[in-house]
Amino acid sequence: MSETFRRMTGREPEGVWAAPGRVNLIGEHTDYNDGFVLPFALAQWVVLAAAPREDGTWRVRSLNRRQTETFGPADLEPGRVDGWAAYVAGVVWALTEAGHHVRGADLVLGSDVPAGAGLSSSAALECAVLTALVELSGLDVAPLDRARLARRCENEYVGAPTGLLDQAASTLCEADHALFLDCRSAENRQVPLDLGAAGLELLVLDTRTPHSHVTGEYGDRRRACEEAARILGVPALRDITLDHLDDALAQLPDDVMRRRVRHVVTEDARVLEAVAIADDGRPADLAPLLDASHASMRDDFEITVPTVDLAVETARAAGAHGARMTGGGFGGCIIALVPEGGSDAVGQAVAAAFADAGYGEPAWFVGRPSAGARRVS
Ligand code: GLA
Repeated sequence: MSETFRRMTGREPEGVWAAPGRVNLIGEHTDYNDGFVLPFALAQWVVLAAAPREDGTWRVRSLNRRQTETFGPADLEPGRVDGWAAYVAGVVWALTEAGHHVRGADLVLGSDVPAGAGLSSSAALECAVLTALVELSGLDVAPLDRARLARRCENEYVGAPTGLLDQAASTLCEADHALFLDCRSAENRQVPLDLGAAGLELLVLDTRTPHSHVTGEYGDRRRACEEAARILGVPALRDITLDHLDDALAQLPDDVMRRRVRHVVTEDARVLEAVAIADDGRPADLAPLLDASHASMRDDFEITVPTVDLAVETARAAGAHGARMTGGGFGGCIIALVPEGGSDAVGQAVAAAFADAGYGEPAWFVGRPSAGARRVS
């Protein structure tokens, strides 16, 4: 990346930074309900080289898009910069709103995080830019606050009403671990995830059904959860525990809302169980939780789509111990816990089922728990 930077800008980079995409092992649509999540960072990254500019503007080149965007302090208002560059301008905006002085910079960036696949390519971009600009500007911003600022960019600049999951994962994860995050207190800790020691690996399969969270169904689900919490008289659905689920459901006006609540409450409980299992070093026992999570997303939260359901069912039939959709839903990726070395066979089986059903070809890789955002040179 340094060499590309030199070639494109005629300057020396001051450093190279990277931030990863993520998969969420379990805990879907729980983050904005003040609940629990258990993601891990992938070994797919947004990588960027950067050097400060003295004219106070930001000049960003995207190698993937083959585009260059330039903006200055006067362009920072939300809505002024759009498309992929909004994730960059939004980070500068969020830092500025928090009272930081951000130096102008030349940025050259590339990514191997599949875009639109539910693997947080946008959070990876935000967190890579944020990490680089914090360092280039000599700012002191703690990792959790970086994640919060990147989320603010996503929510208020880009306009996607998401929770803290993606940015926390991209910032705070450590290699060979998943991140257990309480989205209310933001308390978090690393949970060991040595799948290899248990003779397992995690297949990540992209159905290539694109998804978007800026508008539509994601926001609808969020509003339904908030409305249910209001009716139940609690700050957030996190406050309903499994023991009180039936009482809570009885107070809700309709079946759809009851199912939405049941998903969130049971999913929070599954995360806690998954953490206990991972702490115990029994990752094979995660499989039934993955299956239950998928059923809950399909039947209660209704965020899966036919390609995703077919991928999950086929993966299981082809030898996966457990499988679920990961991420916000309405397309994107599934994860499957498979015997070590078994990902390709399962991926091929899904590809064959997709061909039979007239769907496009899926893509897949083995997900390896990796480190969060950092300087790489
Ligand atoms: C998307 C959002 C996250 C989270 C997940 C669902 O990835 O960005 O904040 O809500 O969906 O768990």
